[in-house]
Amino acid sequence: MASTGTLLITGGAGYIGSHTVRHLLTLGEKIVVLDNLVFGHREALPLDRVTFVHGDMGDTALIEELFSDHQPEAVLHFAAFAQVGESVADPLKYYRNNLAAPLVLLEAMQRHGCRRFIFSSTCATYGNPVRVPMDENHPQDPVNPYGASKWMLERVLRDCDHAWGLKSVFLRYFNASGCDPAGEIGEDHDPETHLIPRILMAATGEIENITVFGTDYPTPDGTCIRDYIHVNDLATAHALALDYLRQGGNTEAVNLGTGRGFSVNEIIQTAQAVTGKTIPVSYGPRRPGDPPELICQPTKAKTLLGWEATHKDPREHIQSAWNWMTGPKKGRYAD
Ligand SMILES: NC(=O)c1ccc[n+]([C@@H]2O[C@H](COP(=O)([O-])OP(=O)(O)OC[C@H]3O[C@@H](n4cnc5c(N)ncnc54)[C@H](O)[C@@H]3O)[C@@H](O)[C@H]2O)c1
Repeated sequence: MASTGTLLITGGAGYIGSHTVRHLLTLGEKIVVLDNLVFGHREALPLDRVTFVHGDMGDTALIEELFSDHQPEAVLHFAAFAQVGESVADPLKYYRNNLAAPLVLLEAMQRHGCRRFIFSSTCATYGNPVRVPMDENHPQDPVNPYGASKWMLERVLRDCDHAWGLKSVFLRYFNASGCDPAGEIGEDHDPETHLIPRILMAATGEIENITVFGTDYPTPDGTCIRDYIHVNDLATAHALALDYLRQGGNTEAVNLGTGRGFSVNEIIQTAQAVTGKTIPVSYGPRRPGDPPELICQPTKAKTLLGWEATHKDPREHIQSAWNWMTGPKKGRYAD
């Protein structure tokens, strides 16, 4: 359901944001992207088809100008810092960017009567699982500042709904992976902390090896199990969440995952099969705060939004990420 309104997409030059921008453009949406390019890339955006504003969402004057100029009808909020380990070492950096800076955005939304918000939340808001698969009613007890910053913003959004009618969808992603299958855009983080790109970096020799953290977990092969959700499935979920809010939907939390888990060893073996390369592996101790198993219960996404993951096979995720890493850009944007 495309509308004539403008969407403001924060963090739209990042990994998940840029894939979502592409999808929304195919639906005829009008888009303004705000990104400070700390992690994002201009090159990830079709600059002839979106308005790009290079700036920080915590900049009150810039945000006011942006709302006055474009009067967005909804905000899709991807901008955040997302490295768990760094959040433990430097929590205030995370609370400033993931919690305080979005308040500037919300204040502008309140002033300008913008009442729709789609939030990139995370399964990290749940903390250590007390049951698997995890549904949206699973207790939220985050175990690191990253997860806590996202959980606190969810709370802020509920309070804004109560006070001034802001309607939000908190999309709690599990492990985002894969790239646009054509290999034109992809995942380019510096530093890269995600498993699949790191495995592929080990396959190309860009890093020496891939470290497996912990081989003594209570899982069939002793390594951690995660639910990998393809970035293009995340993109379609955002479009459906937008439809839901445009149709008058209420504030809701929705998990996004496939409902299937794969171990670190299984992902490495699959990557060897897809790339035809021997991937050097080293084994290290468990990392603090890494639960053995994180698997999504995705039923609510289907009943509420009509969404279901379509790329459930990790081979597809790895193949598309490999296309990006071995394509013309070799997995790196120029900017
Ligand atoms: N990647 C995952 O597996 C995953 C899982 C769960 C949730 N998430 C969430 O999804 C969102 C997107 O993740 P991603 O992997 O695409 O990350 P990313 O770093 O690629 O994208 C985030 C973008 O936000 C921008 N940004 C950060 N702070 C900003 C600020 N103050 N002002 C303007 N722009 C700013 C960055 O430059 C970057 O382009 C994040 O909110 C993240 O917490 C990601």
